[in-house]
Amino acid sequence: MEDFENDYPDHENTPFYEHGDEPTCNTSDNANFYEVMDAHVKRRSFLMGGLAAISTGLFGNALTAKGALAVTTATPGLLGFTPVPVSMEDRVVVPDGYSWQVLGGTGEPITDDMPAYRPGANTGAEQGMQVGQHHDGMHYFPIDGSSEDGLLVVNHEYIEPRFLHAEKEGYKGQGIGSRDVVYDASEQRNDDEVLMEMNAHGISIYRTAKQADGNWSIIEDPLNRRITVLTEIEIGGPVRGSGHVRTKFSPDGTMTRGTVNNCAHGVTPWNTYMAAEENWAGYFSNTDQIDQKPDLPREHARYGVSTNPRSGRYGWHLAASGADEFVRFNASTLGASSTEDYRNEPNTYGWMVEIDPFNPDAAPVKRTALGRFAHEGVVFAPAVEGAPVVCYSGDDARFEYIYKFVSDGVYVPGETDGSILDSGTLYVAKFDEDGTAEWLALEPGRNGLTPANGFADLADILVNTRLAADFVGATKMDRPEWGTVDPNSGEVYFTLTNNSRRTLVEVDAVNPRAQNNFGQIVRWRYQDADQTRENFDWDLFVIAGTPRQSATFEGATLNDDSMFACPDGIWCDADSRLWIQTDMGDIGPDYEGPLKDFGMNGMLAANPATGEIRRFLTGPWGQECTGVITTPDQRTMFVNFQHPGAHASGEEFAAGNFGSGFPDYNGTVPRSATIVITKDDGGVIGA
Ligand code: FEO
Ligand code: CA
Ligand code: CA
Repeated sequence: MEDFENDYPDHENTPFYEHGDEPTCNTSDNANFYEVMDAHVKRRSFLMGGLAAISTGLFGNALTAKGALAVTTATPGLLGFTPVPVSMEDRVVVPDGYSWQVLGGTGEPITDDMPAYRPGANTGAEQGMQVGQHHDGMHYFPIDGSSEDGLLVVNHEYIEPRFLHAEKEGYKGQGIGSRDVVYDASEQRNDDEVLMEMNAHGISIYRTAKQADGNWSIIEDPLNRRITVLTEIEIGGPVRGSGHVRTKFSPDGTMTRGTVNNCAHGVTPWNTYMAAEENWAGYFSNTDQIDQKPDLPREHARYGVSTNPRSGRYGWHLAASGADEFVRFNASTLGASSTEDYRNEPNTYGWMVEIDPFNPDAAPVKRTALGRFAHEGVVFAPAVEGAPVVCYSGDDARFEYIYKFVSDGVYVPGETDGSILDSGTLYVAKFDEDGTAEWLALEPGRNGLTPANGFADLADILVNTRLAADFVGATKMDRPEWGTVDPNSGEVYFTLTNNSRRTLVEVDAVNPRAQNNFGQIVRWRYQDADQTRENFDWDLFVIAGTPRQSATFEGATLNDDSMFACPDGIWCDADSRLWIQTDMGDIGPDYEGPLKDFGMNGMLAANPATGEIRRFLTGPWGQECTGVITTPDQRTMFVNFQHPGAHASGEEFAAGNFGSGFPDYNGTVPRSATIVITKDDGGVIGA
């Protein structure tokens, strides 16, 4: 997920928190350039000589006329596997000639006391020494260049209390609702449950190595580490020390505690890891309005900080002890100034967090120059010596934006470190109808971002990144999820997962469908492959959907072997194989709805040159497939399954039916896990 973003009927009954979904906060009136669409149809052969004749206007007619053309042709060697069919089974399916094993499920011990996984019996403190819940973005950092021994760094996007506590004696939430438990404002939460929930968030870092039998294991190592909602984290960049982030915990505005909702990730050119803070706003509660105090500040309101006294999302601020590290999720105005309460705590969230996996003593750093929004992840362009560092990040909520950062400093191999990210220009994308686009700078004095227009300085712009992007007229997208850069061509890809709320008058060339249930993938490139340019050319690589409702950039349609919906994770490997992961929400075997034809979530591989796509993998019930990386030799692949069993109802849970057996298949609660995929002949994955 968090992908309740598919707001289909079974998701509409949650009382106040829409299943982790970002509320639609963007009510600005930027043009959605409906008129862009027709021009896009006229545009031809921008990339690779392909046809770009895709738009809502002609979509139905064009595809009906063509029928379900299956014109994908293989580029020898790039996609060499036999595609797997759509699956309705509660199991992992990989192509013939491939094998998989489980690694690092929720609760597996990795550090300190190495407490064994005991479903329903582990303490909150023990969870802080174990793999967290609901795996998402992930990277393999080789140790000494090895493809058989490295550090796996795994994000844990969010938690579902019912999974964490399902087998706990007397757990209040058991049997309630589907996902998030609702607490009364007067209620007090059990401290250890809160601690467990905080410790199940964050990032897991552990050494893993291939054993003599070919299986990969977790290896105890001093580098193994958990980063959680309690970890002290530095605030770096232009927002550091500003009035926006001064709190009771950090009166000088230089530190905060924790990171949440770490969805996707990034890997810097200097070999550190970045974890994204995506749907963080719902974790907080600001009841100022209810208490007849002033309206929510814009830096809360534009991001959807909850005004419900029973919330945040998990009711952490209702912990019985009233301990400071718990109650800080109450972002109401309670004290005489911002250094006496946590009204500014939400401003310390919504950033990209840099972590050095090889330095366990270093505090992570929130790199504020990259902007504050629902960061899905970050992707770095290949670093060029002597040139600025460039990275991209999507804001995953309906009608939000895609951003780019260009550093002021230049990349010097062996010298550049994360501090280069503290100074530079943040841009937001404006896609034009003719296949061109521009990056609009979010800098003081540029594009009208002045004090007179409500933007006091750079820190103010960054804390209010979404509002600055609204102001300059960025293009409202269909939920930007992951991005990737083809290391060979320099072309950039971003998934736009879906947007069921886009109306016909809101469609545009890059978001061409109303009620977009299936999503699309946009790609762009620069003149001279210069990623620092402020203009670029774009096209839609694929419009996802059923054979009759899809199109590749070549003008072909998807077929039984390639059809998919709701692209989310995307990663281009060293050979330019484009791996695409799907998140259609919690699809189970009884799902009925617009995504019915696609079966369980899984992963496909695409050939960027031809548009050919083949389904590589399908997963168990209820999960989404998110997070993919290989070892440097490309012979071992790591993939995550998040929230298996999530489709199960509260009633089913109460009856002991947890929705999926993955990965243990022994009647215990299902858990998110990484799987390791190898080719039986030892070859390159996907080839
Ligand atoms: Fe966490 Fe946008 O997926
Ligand atoms: Ca998603
Ligand atoms: Ca995602």
